[in-house]
Amino acid sequence: MNQTLERWSSRRAFILAVTGAAVGLGNIWRFPYITGENGGAAFLLIYIGFVVLLGLPVMMAEILVGRAGRSSPMLSLGKLARQAGRSEHWRWLGLFGAFTVFCILSFYSVVSGWAMDFMVTAFSGGFQGMSADQVGAGFGDFLANPLRMAMDHTLFLVLTMLVVAAGVSKGLERLNNLLMPALYLLLFVLAGHAISMDGFGPALEWLFTPDFSAVTPMVFIHAMGHAFFTLAVGACALMAYGAYMPDHQSLPGAAAAVAILDVIVALLAGIAIFSVVFTQGMDPGEGPGLMFITLPVAFADLPFGAFWLGLFFLLLVLATWTSSINLAEPIVATLIGWGMTRRRAALVTGVCVWLVGMLCVLSFSTLSDFHVLGSMNFFDVVSTIPPEIFLPLGGLLIAIFAAWVMPEQEALRALDAGPNGFRLWRIVLRWISIPLVIVVLISGLV
Ligand code: PFF
Ligand code: NA
Repeated sequence: MNQTLERWSSRRAFILAVTGAAVGLGNIWRFPYITGENGGAAFLLIYIGFVVLLGLPVMMAEILVGRAGRSSPMLSLGKLARQAGRSEHWRWLGLFGAFTVFCILSFYSVVSGWAMDFMVTAFSGGFQGMSADQVGAGFGDFLANPLRMAMDHTLFLVLTMLVVAAGVSKGLERLNNLLMPALYLLLFVLAGHAISMDGFGPALEWLFTPDFSAVTPMVFIHAMGHAFFTLAVGACALMAYGAYMPDHQSLPGAAAAVAILDVIVALLAGIAIFSVVFTQGMDPGEGPGLMFITLPVAFADLPFGAFWLGLFFLLLVLATWTSSINLAEPIVATLIGWGMTRRRAALVTGVCVWLVGMLCVLSFSTLSDFHVLGSMNFFDVVSTIPPEIFLPLGGLLIAIFAAWVMPEQEALRALDAGPNGFRLWRIVLRWISIPLVIVVLISGLV
């Protein structure tokens, strides 16, 4: 099996793939609204702290396991555990990861469908001349229309599974390479445009002047979950990509580059979005609709606004596309590991995710008051519990596996950062990252 496994065609291609996985809805849609709901600057600081102390070391751990195992997450974990003379039950961690990404993909596809729909509306000038209130009302009508959302979700998922079925290295790599810089550029332009808005000063103040008095253990839980989510860590998705990582590439450098870019994209999106929020007197705690309401307003008074807004949503869809492909990979790799062909695995995955995604679609209309957990409906649950509980839990187990279980020699080789780099990484993982996840998880649960 190992011989037939694909490889990314170059080091650059690997970094691009991981960047593609990391940069997505998490940065541009989820980061602003989660930050808004959690009061701004204090949350932002805690989240950045978690990116450095947890996200980055665990990201290295996760990719390294895949690289050392060179198989699907389940098989890699089992194989490395056996080599170390430990229980092969570790392989179930791979299945847990597949379950986690399954849940995430089901809502990710639905929200990406919104972005696709908004792209079409934007290009056709549908948001022209609208006030913030009108855009908000329009978004409400959109959510109440399950048929339209179902079509968007279906289309996006088909696009995702087509690429997954074709394999990792062909079209996607090139698409990523070509188009992602355009998204970053456009975000820069948007954030630059925000400077001229009345809300720019208040937005900066709100984002960067922390007030720790309002911080609760739940804020830590949200920040930790988001750090894992935005870096695509904790669900064995990067482990699956690590299996295709070329030899002779140092892991820490690649991981750090991805994390820095990911944080910058989120900050730019935050500045652009909150400047509009404060200019228009909107509520930063608006929730999942925040980006979909602020951006059409932001572009409304720009010259050629309809075109730029459409372009922005187009690039966002491309960014979510490369993330959703990564989300599907651990499931597909697991099924391939069980003997399915890639095409069949992609089909089975697509159908199952589609069904669960439909429950998310209906959560905004028919099932909106169907409370699955406390006051949360189905969409609220899948968009909260897997990112905030499953990812940290999966990340914790991956970290324990890499730091304490797998053969040291294999880890050293797969990190590819020399003996000192290896020691430093392992000390951070053992004595900072692992205890920190445990403490935050426990304090949040109590
Ligand atoms: N990192 C992606 C984003 O920020 O949109 C989401 C994601 C991808 C989460 C892959 C988890 C994952 F395994
Ligand atoms: Na991200």
